[in-house]
Amino acid sequence: MLVGVDIGQPRFDATLDELALLAESAGYRVCDRVVCRRRAPDAALYIGRGKADEIKALAAAHGASEVLFDQALSPAQQRNLESHLGLAVNDRILLILEIFARRARSHEGKLQVELARLQYLSTRLVRRWTHLERQSGGIGLRGGPGETQIELDRRMIAQAIQRTRERLERVKRQRQTQRRQRQRRGTFNVSLVGYTNAGKSTLFNALVKANAYAADQLFATLDTTTRQLYLGEVGVSVSLSDTVGFIRDLPHTLVEAFAATLQEARDADLLLHVVDVAGPQHPEQIGDVQRVLREIGATEVPQVLVFNKIDALPPERQPRRGRDVVELDGRTVPRIFVSARTGAGLGTLRAVIAEAVCAARFSPRTQPEDRQLGTIESSDHEPPQRTHE
Ligand code: GTP
Repeated sequence: MLVGVDIGQPRFDATLDELALLAESAGYRVCDRVVCRRRAPDAALYIGRGKADEIKALAAAHGASEVLFDQALSPAQQRNLESHLGLAVNDRILLILEIFARRARSHEGKLQVELARLQYLSTRLVRRWTHLERQSGGIGLRGGPGETQIELDRRMIAQAIQRTRERLERVKRQRQTQRRQRQRRGTFNVSLVGYTNAGKSTLFNALVKANAYAADQLFATLDTTTRQLYLGEVGVSVSLSDTVGFIRDLPHTLVEAFAATLQEARDADLLLHVVDVAGPQHPEQIGDVQRVLREIGATEVPQVLVFNKIDALPPERQPRRGRDVVELDGRTVPRIFVSARTGAGLGTLRAVIAEAVCAARFSPRTQPEDRQLGTIESSDHEPPQRTHE
């Protein structure tokens, strides 16, 4: 059962559609949606006692096994709700972590998810340390460990975080070596970024005719896939990367844990920011993606807005031109209208990538040897620079 609580937040989703898609992507079947309004969250239950009783009765009528909140719950609220409802309770952040845990395939992806989960757990002392030894599956063992158990949890989590960080550090170094090799070869790197489900993998496949996994699920792609894309127009190959999707309220632990993957976007020469133009939320989603790009220090990378899924637009909303320019966070960027599904507009998109390659060739920039992400907080200053000679 899905629950959304409107406490006057600017992006309240009264439809709970995104939460439903998240839940389905995590393997749940949604039986009902409940939306309620409050002036402020209740400290103990987040919602009022009366509403909680109503949800309990509805859940029993549906035979629901779990209640999912669209808003982040404190550990105490989650615990109290679970005992009040007699059901498992999760929130949006746990759901995203759960999807990431299921989807990670590569060694690096798994390590990144593990780090995010550990960081999340370190703020919640309600789980047992044996949890850390579980290789896969959902987020949750629940229980009420005593004081000693909590201290043990804390130490075990801190040690596990340290170990995972060290292992990730090694993987990161390998990735840097590969990136330097590409830089030495003078490869022009193009990264696809965008809100989850915008159609990045479909566009990637359409451009390089590869077979990256595309599905109507959130976060179908977690690991970066890179392929060569030959641009006959300028006679060069560029490397094109499909990356992890962004989402509203992406848990900070995930942004930090996925620093190595997200660095692909920061180090790119060109970002193709893919937008699901047929989705009603697309203006807000553009803002969400820009926010994550700022967090990872990728705002200086030249960007092209790719408005995808024009085939799904009604005739009156069809674009009159295949390309134009728009203002995005104080910069003028090209905007291209495409359909990754039908192939409409892909020729124009290739031409725009070719223009970017030519522009970079005529304005060579220098590439510092060691441009790393470091911590999220300290990463948004250095503008990406690169040589393409
Ligand atoms: P994540 O991996 O979750 O970040 O998603 P993504 O951005 O890679 O999206 P993906 O390519 O998996 O596509 C999401 C859904 O949108 C799939 O069901 C696609 O078939 C559909 N889709 C992609 N491009 C188009 C398009 O041009 N038109 C229409 N109608 N649907 C599209």
